[in-house]
Formats: sequence, C-alpha cells, structure tokens
Amino acid sequence: MQIFGVDIGGSGIKGAPVDLDRGDLAQDRHKVLTPHPATPDTVADKVKEVIDHFEWSGPVGVTFPGVITDGTVRTAANVDKSWVGIHIEDLLRERLGEDCPVTALNDADAAGVAEMSFGAGRGRTGTVILLTFGTGVGSGLFTDGRLVANTELGHLELNGHDAEKRASSKAKEDHDLSWSHWARRVQKYLAHVEMLFSPELFVIGGGVSRKSDKFLPLIEGIRAEIVPAQLQNNAGIVGAAMRAGERHGAP
Ligand code: BGC
Repeated sequence: MQIFGVDIGGSGIKGAPVDLDRGDLAQDRHKVLTPHPATPDTVADKVKEVIDHFEWSGPVGVTFPGVITDGTVRTAANVDKSWVGIHIEDLLRERLGEDCPVTALNDADAAGVAEMSFGAGRGRTGTVILLTFGTGVGSGLFTDGRLVANTELGHLELNGHDAEKRASSKAKEDHDLSWSHWARRVQKYLAHVEMLFSPELFVIGGGVSRKSDKFLPLIEGIRAEIVPAQLQNNAGIVGAAMRAGERHGAP
C-alpha cells in the first residue's frame, strides 16, 4: 500500500508516495524551497505543489517542526509564529481537497516512527530516544516501540541555555565550532537526557547523521548505545506516511 508523506522543514518541503511495506519511497521525492515568511498560507501552497507534482489523491501524512496535538500546531520555535493555534490538518485538507485527508505529527516523532520500524531502532525494546540535530534539536521517545509524542527534549536547559541553541548543527555552523568542540556539547546534552530517561539506545538523526563518523567516536561516558539513524533524509516522509496509513486503515 502507498500513502503520501510530506516533510515540512525550515529550508525545504519535500514529499513522495511511500511504499508502506518496504518503508521506503515509491518514487523519487520532489522538493521545493520553504517560502519566507513560512506562514500557514504560503506553506500550504507549497505542500499542494509537492502533492500536485505526483497527481496524488489519497491520504497524506505531514511532519511539522513543532508540537502537534489533535491536529493543531502548539509551538513554532523555528518557524513563523503565526502557526501556533492553526489546525494544520484542516488547513491542508481544505487546500488539497476532500480526497486528501491529512494526518500531521512532529518531525522528530515521524523520523522516530520510521527508524523504529525500518531503521536503527528496528526490533528494539525498552526506552529508545531518537534525537535529530539540525536547525533545532528534535526528539522522539519510544517505550517498547510505542511513541510518547511531543517530548521536545531539544528545549531542555543546558548550562542556562535552551539546549538546541548549544547543540544543534545550526549552532555548530553559526559559531564555526570544530567537530570536537561540538561533540563535547552533544556529549553534555546526551548525558543530561540520559540522566532523566536512562534509555537503552540513542538514535542520532538529522542531516548531520551522515557525518556521524566525525563526532560519534568522540562522545564518551554515555551508558546507552549510540547509533546513527539509517533512513536519514527520508525518515520524516516515511514516518508521516506510516502514521497517516495507520489512521486510514493500512495494515
Ligand atoms: C522544535 C521541535 C522540532 C525540532 C526539530 C525544535 O525547535 O521545538 O518540535 O522537532 O526543533 O525540528
């Protein structure tokens, strides 16, 4: 069965039909640039553009970089604040048409859902935490394979700062930090998360996970196993489609 997945990010909006049996894209994904300002209206137009590219009709899963409860955006740390309070599922369904019911979830939760079924977390029980390091730091917390949604661990306080301002890969770029300097910050952050949750496994995602050999070997003193994400760029698209599939009767 195929369901469409869309990943709404700070720089790009990308999507593709997903083969839910394989947990992979059924066709090459299509990407458009995120409009600026990224308001609900302008983003909805771009999501439609991505879906129209495939002439898709059917359920759509969408990721969003903020808290989503009951289809409504509750926080917008790195996107336009006008999203807060918007029912993103209704907004997009109105724009896409009745044939495209929309299911939305947090971007890191979506990536985690995909990794737990088809990637680095497959078959893992106990507490597993996926962390995405990008513009912000996103988190997906799983206990025996079940998602605890909207954990927002990127906003824990670290040395008096919002953790993502210190440990995101954007912080690395903005402050021109070396890999070892940045790895020390990530290590401190992981130690803090470990102190609170004692996970068995950390899965490290986000664009930077492609370069995990540059920083994961530098991280010391963490009890949990630490592995890079496997689905990388497509995890959000796949996880969003899986969630929409669950809601719309996919096995
Ligand atoms: C947001 C999270 C999001 C993460 C990654 C954070 O700033 O609060 O909801 O998952 O960035 O995009």
